[in-house]
Amino acid sequence: MSTTTQKVAIVTGGSRGIGQAIAIRLAADGFAIAIHYASNGAKAEETVHAIRTVGGTAIAIQGDVSDQHDVARLFRQTMHEFGRIDVVVNSAGVMPMAKIDVDNLGTLDKTVTTNLRGAFNVMAQAAAHLDDGGRIIVLSSSVIAKSFPGYGPYIASKAAVESLVPVLANELRGRAITVNAIAPGPVGTDLFLEGKSEELITYLAKLAPLERIGKPDEIASAVSFLAGPDGAWVNAQVVRVNGGYA
Ligand SMILES: NC(=O)c1ccc[n+]([C@@H]2O[C@H](COP(=O)([O-])OP(=O)(O)OC[C@H]3O[C@@H](n4cnc5c(N)ncnc54)[C@H](OP(=O)(O)O)[C@@H]3O)[C@@H](O)[C@H]2O)c1
Repeated sequence: MSTTTQKVAIVTGGSRGIGQAIAIRLAADGFAIAIHYASNGAKAEETVHAIRTVGGTAIAIQGDVSDQHDVARLFRQTMHEFGRIDVVVNSAGVMPMAKIDVDNLGTLDKTVTTNLRGAFNVMAQAAAHLDDGGRIIVLSSSVIAKSFPGYGPYIASKAAVESLVPVLANELRGRAITVNAIAPGPVGTDLFLEGKSEELITYLAKLAPLERIGKPDEIASAVSFLAGPDGAWVNAQVVRVNGGYA
């Protein structure tokens, strides 16, 4: 077990993309990190290795965010290993494209299960385990404001996640715990890039006045702010980190 004076963060979706950048940034900020991932053990271990190489503390724990027992075990193992939990970031997510068509009910179910049920499950365990002064940060998406065709299941799941944020902030009244969402615009990760042509990526990149897609580190910077001392007065908000895209 590590020292109980070191603060501890759980980052779901920490094996890849934005979650990986968040895990590495929070480790640099001084947190011991529990990286949660679904199936990509090698990438999760890469993140652990990247953190340990520069003197940080990290472990990787496998599980499905939508599974009650897996997420309970994530929190139990983190407590066992590090003795406390100060910050919980839910970055795990999926973004399959599917039009609003009866043939796509299965895709709706899968997307809602991972993105909404997963966030609810992680938020519930965070509410149960965080000490006073803790921070809960969930990943939403700025694409909610765009209403692009094919994004129905994803936008519906993320809009619902945003709706949970002020509710949980109210439920945690009196414990000095903040609950916020970060809603990135397009960021260069597997989730955004997979299945898109160069032309489409260029088009989407130009939508923001800053005329590019975001970098995972730029989302991690906003998470670092909310998780750190300077973020203490930001509560029940959705912070849109997107270069002006929406
Ligand atoms: N990239 C963007 O443009 C963008 C924009 C706005 C919002 N976001 C949001 O930001 C978050 C991170 O996205 P990303 O771009 O970093 O995605 P990504 O590169 O595809 O990574 C997804 C991560 O989620 C994990 N994951 C997926 N399903 C899971 C499940 N059922 N249980 C546990 N972990 C699961 C994956 O684990 P494995 O590695 O084991 O598969 C991986 O670590 C998501 O919530 C996404 O909706 C992304």
